[in-house]
Amino acid sequence: MRQSPLVVVANRLPIDDSVAPDGAFEWRRSPGGLVSALHPLLRHTPATWVGWAGGTGPAPDLPDVDGVRMHTVPLSAEDFRDHYEGFANATLWPLYHDAVEQPEYHRRWWEAYQRVNQRFAEAAARVAEPGGLVWVQDYHLQLVPGLLRELRPDLRIGFFLHVPFPPPELFMQLPRRAELLRGMLGADLVGFQRAQAAHNFAQLAAKVLGLPATDRRIGVDGRVVRIGAFPVAIDTAEMSALAARPEVAERARRLRQDLGRPEQVILSVDRMDYTKGIEQRLKAYRELLANGDIKVRDTVLVQVAVPSRDRVAQYQILRDRVEHQVGRINGEFGRVGEPAIHYLTQPFDRAELVALYRVADVMAVTPLRDGMNLVAKEYVAARVDGTGALLLSEFAGAASELEQAYLVNPHDLDGLKQGLLAALRAGPEDVAARMRAMREHLAHNDIHAWAASYLSALEESGTLVGRRP
Ligand code: UDP
Ligand code: G6P
Repeated sequence: MRQSPLVVVANRLPIDDSVAPDGAFEWRRSPGGLVSALHPLLRHTPATWVGWAGGTGPAPDLPDVDGVRMHTVPLSAEDFRDHYEGFANATLWPLYHDAVEQPEYHRRWWEAYQRVNQRFAEAAARVAEPGGLVWVQDYHLQLVPGLLRELRPDLRIGFFLHVPFPPPELFMQLPRRAELLRGMLGADLVGFQRAQAAHNFAQLAAKVLGLPATDRRIGVDGRVVRIGAFPVAIDTAEMSALAARPEVAERARRLRQDLGRPEQVILSVDRMDYTKGIEQRLKAYRELLANGDIKVRDTVLVQVAVPSRDRVAQYQILRDRVEHQVGRINGEFGRVGEPAIHYLTQPFDRAELVALYRVADVMAVTPLRDGMNLVAKEYVAARVDGTGALLLSEFAGAASELEQAYLVNPHDLDGLKQGLLAALRAGPEDVAARMRAMREHLAHNDIHAWAASYLSALEESGTLVGRRP
């Protein structure tokens, strides 16, 4: 990676302020794919990470994490409610995920979003070196590139959106759509997970702001902003090395034993989020049990569903519904000592998660919409023996790359059931051939290749006054 200090700006820092069961104060790795992707990348490189440490108190003084300097931006209780839970996670998150839940629009939330974005921009402006490079991340901070350019025109600014960017029909709902687009266009390079998202963005820049735009460049205020797809990745070699450790293999053997040595284990690992398709998947599983296509004695489902954003109403409703569904399925089909679903809500650490990946004969990743889904990639990287079937939603960004997965439309219940059965019943040669191709892809397209391609595109971009888009 580059040698001059890089500033990453993301809503979350890689560590999260939390309280242990005994009431003691402790630090934990933050949840979600953004941190999973960026943390290993920045390790031991000269970088500063500007972000929020969780909680609503004053900014704690944090030590460096793996050599990366932590620069905390505090959120007040009001910012947390109106910026994080409100505009970010009850307006933008549902809107950007196909409005699978109704987005809410409140003027107070927008004001908080502006206020918090301003604070992040000021923090980044303070820590960036003259002429330095600042990389702004995700939907919480879409105004930061524009605000930062005003404060520090000397900087080179990148923006990367980890979630989908919606088609114009949906984005046009946003009351403050022009400001959001302008904010993103403050960057020199705007990166998305998929080419379709870059296309949507270009169309909107032309339609809403009247700017000259192609799927690669947009002209604004005498500058050229580059746009493009940079599908985020994982540290494939590190994940494979962890999976190959003897103690992880041993832990996987013990887990299989604890699961009652079923013939086949299906695994799903999600944040408890309505975009992840958990209810649809459980419904498909229940119907397969009810029809006798699968039997609890032979096949078990392990569902890890880590609570997330748990004060937001839609998330509370989802959790209640999922827990009701799990209880019903276990009541109907489970036997003494043999539940149909092993349902777990505690977050797993890396080693334990990788051991679970090694146990799973079928990994079911079936979101209704997902920017990428790193769990799908982690599963493939962890299958060091070349076995294992990945059932993957067409609506996950990962489906553009992992084409050899068993692809399904999670909205189609019958298709989901057939896909699950196909993955469970596939012959070993078919499974191995698919896995080989996916592992090959991830070996070349890892997080280091992702960062190198994004940062070299960013370094090539910049203020090119007078060039046509
Ligand atoms: N993860 C974890 N422990 C858990 C559940 C998930 O460390 O118990 C990690 C998982 O390994 C992955 C990330 O959380 O790296 C989830 O990223 P993904 O892109 O799949 O979804 P997101 O949560 O960002 O929507
Ligand atoms: C997704 C988002 C990230 C976010 C993560 C966890 O991956 O793209 O920006 O950090 O979910 O969500 P949380 O609300 O806990 O930060």
